[in-house]
Amino acid sequence: MNRITLENLRDIENDPRYTFIKGDIRSPEDVAKAMKGCDSVVNFAAETHVDRSIHEGGVFVDTDVHGVFVLCEEARRQNVSRFLHISTDEVYGSIAEGHFKETDRLNPSSPYSASKAGGELLARSYFVTYGLPVLVTRSSNNYGPYQYPEKLIPLFTTNLIENKPVPVYGDGRQVRDWLYVEDQCEALDLVLQKGTVGEIYNVGAGNEEFNLDVTKGILKLLGKREELITYVKDRPGHDRRYAVDTAKIRALGWKPRHDFAAGLKKTVDWYVQHEDWWRAIKQKQADYKAWIEKQYGTK
Ligand code: DAU
Repeated sequence: MNRITLENLRDIENDPRYTFIKGDIRSPEDVAKAMKGCDSVVNFAAETHVDRSIHEGGVFVDTDVHGVFVLCEEARRQNVSRFLHISTDEVYGSIAEGHFKETDRLNPSSPYSASKAGGELLARSYFVTYGLPVLVTRSSNNYGPYQYPEKLIPLFTTNLIENKPVPVYGDGRQVRDWLYVEDQCEALDLVLQKGTVGEIYNVGAGNEEFNLDVTKGILKLLGKREELITYVKDRPGHDRRYAVDTAKIRALGWKPRHDFAAGLKKTVDWYVQHEDWWRAIKQKQADYKAWIEKQYGTK
C-alpha cells in the first residue's frame, strides 16, 4: 500500500547524497535495482499499523515476512557489509510488570506483530545460515513530526485541531513507552555503526504513559475540553503494556535525549503548523475509515 508522501522528502530532494527509487520490497527486480552497489541496508519498509492488520492481515504477511525474504536474498547476492532490520517491541507481546530482555521469548498478539516476528526471525536465519551480517532493533512506540495520522498521537492531535472527538480504546489504561523519532534515529545509526552482527537491540526511552494521560496531555496543549474524549470498544487482542530493557543499547553508548513533555509539545506544534500535510492524507483512505467506524463505533 502506498501511504508515503513525497512531501516528506522535500528537504533532501536536491541533495546529491540521496537517490529516491520508488519500488516494492516484494519485487526482486525493484530490490535489486535499489540495492545495487550498497554497503549497508537498513530496512524500515513495513506495514506498521495494528488496526489495519486486524482489518486485512494478508498484506502484512506479504510485506513484513515475504518482503524481508526478498531483501535478504538480494543482500546475500550483493554481499552487503551490514543489514539492519528494524523490528518492534510488539514481538514480545504484553508484560504486566518488569521489562523484556532481548533473550525473552516472542509472543506476538496481532497479525502485524506476528508478521514482524516472522520477518526478524527470517532475517536472523540469514545470519546463522549464510553469514549475512544482520542486526535487529526492537523499538518502542515512535512519535514526532511526519507520523501518519492513523497512530494515536497524530490521529488525536489532528482530530482535536478539527474539534472532533478522540476514540480511546477500552479504559485507556494501556501503557506505551514513547520514543521521540530523533532518538530512535540516533539509536539505529549507532547499531548500524557499532552493533555486533547477529545481535538484537531493544530501543525504548522509558517514557511509560497511560494512553489516557497522553490524550489529556494533547488536549491540554491544544486548549481543548475533556468532553472530546470518547471511550469506544477495545481493540481486539489489545496488548496492555509494552516495556523493554535497554541496558544492551545503552552499553553501546546510546541514551534518549528528549523528555516526553517537550517531545509531545514539539510534535503537537508541528501538526498545528502543517495542516496542509495531514489534511491531504486524512481525506483519503475511505475504505479503512469506514472499517474503523464500524469496528469501534466511532461514527
Ligand atoms: O510498540 C511499537 C509499535 O507501536 C510499532 O511497532 C507499531 O508500528 C506502531 O503502530 C505502534 O503500535 P501501537 O498499536 O502501540 O500504536 P497506536 O498508535 O496504534 O496505538 C497506541 C495505543 O493507543 C494503543 O494502546 C492503542 C491506543 N489507541 C490507538 C488509536 C489509533 C486508541 O486508544 N485509540 C486510537 O484511535
